[in-house]
Amino acid sequence: MSDTERHQYDVIVVGAGGAGLRAAIAAHDAGARTAVICKSLLGKAHTVMAEGGIAAAMGNLWPEDNWKVHFRDTMRGGKLLNHWRMAELHAKEAPERVWELEQWGALFDRTADGLISQRDFGGHRYARLAHVGDRTGLEMIRTLQQRTVALGIDVFMECTITHLLKDGGAMSGAFGYWRETGRFIVFEAPSVVLATGGIGKSWKVTSNSWEYTGDGHALALRAGAGLINMEFVQFHPTGMVWPPSVRGILVTESVRGDGGVLKNSDGERFMFNYIPEFFKAETADTIEEADRWYEDKKNNRRPPELLPRDEVARAINSEIKAGRGSPHGGVFLDIASRRTPEYIQKRLPSMYHQFKELAQVDITKDPMEIGPTCHYVMGGVEVDPDSAQSTVPGLFAAGEVAGGMHGANRLGGNSLGDLLVFGKRAGEHAATYASGLAARPAVDEAELERASEENLAPFDNEDGENPYTVHQELQQVMQNLVGIIRNEEELSSAIKEIDSLRHRIANLTVEGHRQYNPGWNLAIDLRNMLLVSEAVAKAAFERKESRGGHTRDDFPMTDYAYWGKRNLICELSSTGEVGTREQSLPEPPPELAELLEEGH
Ligand code: FUM
Repeated sequence: MSDTERHQYDVIVVGAGGAGLRAAIAAHDAGARTAVICKSLLGKAHTVMAEGGIAAAMGNLWPEDNWKVHFRDTMRGGKLLNHWRMAELHAKEAPERVWELEQWGALFDRTADGLISQRDFGGHRYARLAHVGDRTGLEMIRTLQQRTVALGIDVFMECTITHLLKDGGAMSGAFGYWRETGRFIVFEAPSVVLATGGIGKSWKVTSNSWEYTGDGHALALRAGAGLINMEFVQFHPTGMVWPPSVRGILVTESVRGDGGVLKNSDGERFMFNYIPEFFKAETADTIEEADRWYEDKKNNRRPPELLPRDEVARAINSEIKAGRGSPHGGVFLDIASRRTPEYIQKRLPSMYHQFKELAQVDITKDPMEIGPTCHYVMGGVEVDPDSAQSTVPGLFAAGEVAGGMHGANRLGGNSLGDLLVFGKRAGEHAATYASGLAARPAVDEAELERASEENLAPFDNEDGENPYTVHQELQQVMQNLVGIIRNEEELSSAIKEIDSLRHRIANLTVEGHRQYNPGWNLAIDLRNMLLVSEAVAKAAFERKESRGGHTRDDFPMTDYAYWGKRNLICELSSTGEVGTREQSLPEPPPELAELLEEGH
């Protein structure tokens, strides 16, 4: 290991999406020597896929909005499985994080009287999403990136972390490789913040790009942390379905927030047939009331197209299965017949161009064909809500890689608020942890040797498996057997298939050398994808009810008495297999519990 590049920091942040950049800024501001390490180019992050806005109860359009209403909406959207303290902190702190972004140069759309404009999204009682057209995530990343660079924070781009390092029970750093040269690199640091995002690349139809292979989830598991709520995977209701090359690309919820409606092949607004008991009181059951809601949110109930995402995705799935789908296996999303071309082009410029260029559809004239796409995982590293620290000292997690905040289902727009609120908290606490240590932890050289051997193993295998074949098979298994609707038989086959793939990746072969070798890079990523897929399938097998992003057709009811009081934690056994254990759900204090009652 003598020629391996080495660096020393107080805090390293793995991942450069919204959570990673916000954490790095906070750690730097708290006086820590900080570095950001990202697998891709700086600025290329799934944060940009949160197009519609940042949910924050600023009350700019609806003065009656406040953190209590946002807290309640978030908990109800998460089917009450959220960690109440995370939902509380998020609702209270999101507005301040948005104003701070503005001070750092983010240019939000404005209301007529000059305030930050806010738009409607599913499950939010009031128009609450601060937005920049339909490119909000992009503006957020641009702003945070510019600030990171201006502050002089070190950034290691196209650098993949493959192993976390420990001294005794605590973090001592991370080991990885440069994608360009394939050379190894060691970061010695007492605090590591994981901000690696999601796990979508294990599914065939996904809005996620190549980076989202569950790296942080897997690194945390191997380091001894637990993953919470892994059975809950969000299928965004609206992804493109045609042409095949763009299947899965996100169609923002803003289309529905701004008045778009869903129709089946009979031209019916079918969402009225799918209003669940849980949301009956707040959902319009006639077209007239649904349409009046855009003008008067106080006295009218929300259109069913703006139910939380899990409900809408399931409804679309049912329509397609019942043979009422569109020609290419989706349903229709129509904004053309409801808003003027000028309005659509102003509010949804990216969608206009996306459909024009990729599908030759003019959304100001014709409906879009859309269908569910794997978008987000609610599950992630179990963290302390206030500090974002995992059960491993020195290991922090924020953003999609962290679990608990969104419970069984995330409301649209809550991801961007989550990244900012908990990114900041993770960075600050990581810096405090590092500065409070009496001595720096040591890096174990033998651990580096092992990590290096493990990474290079695929070069030594002859006539082994091709990583691309294994990846395709994994995506097929997760899409078919661990999708929107699940059952015991399919989940147990998925667990067996994943186990067999796990054995097969011990014998992967890659050709060529280490410089920019995507086959080798994928071979390394596959270890993470398989581990995380195992966690999702096993947790889904265990949870014998339907709730949020986990629907079992053999257990269609939501079980408030038993599963409504429990989370599942995934942990790694000494033989390298994922196990699950039940954990009681923390109870909110009475003043917050009261907010969750009907009528609030
Ligand atoms: O539909 C969207 O714009 C996505 C937002 C989100 O995932 O929060």
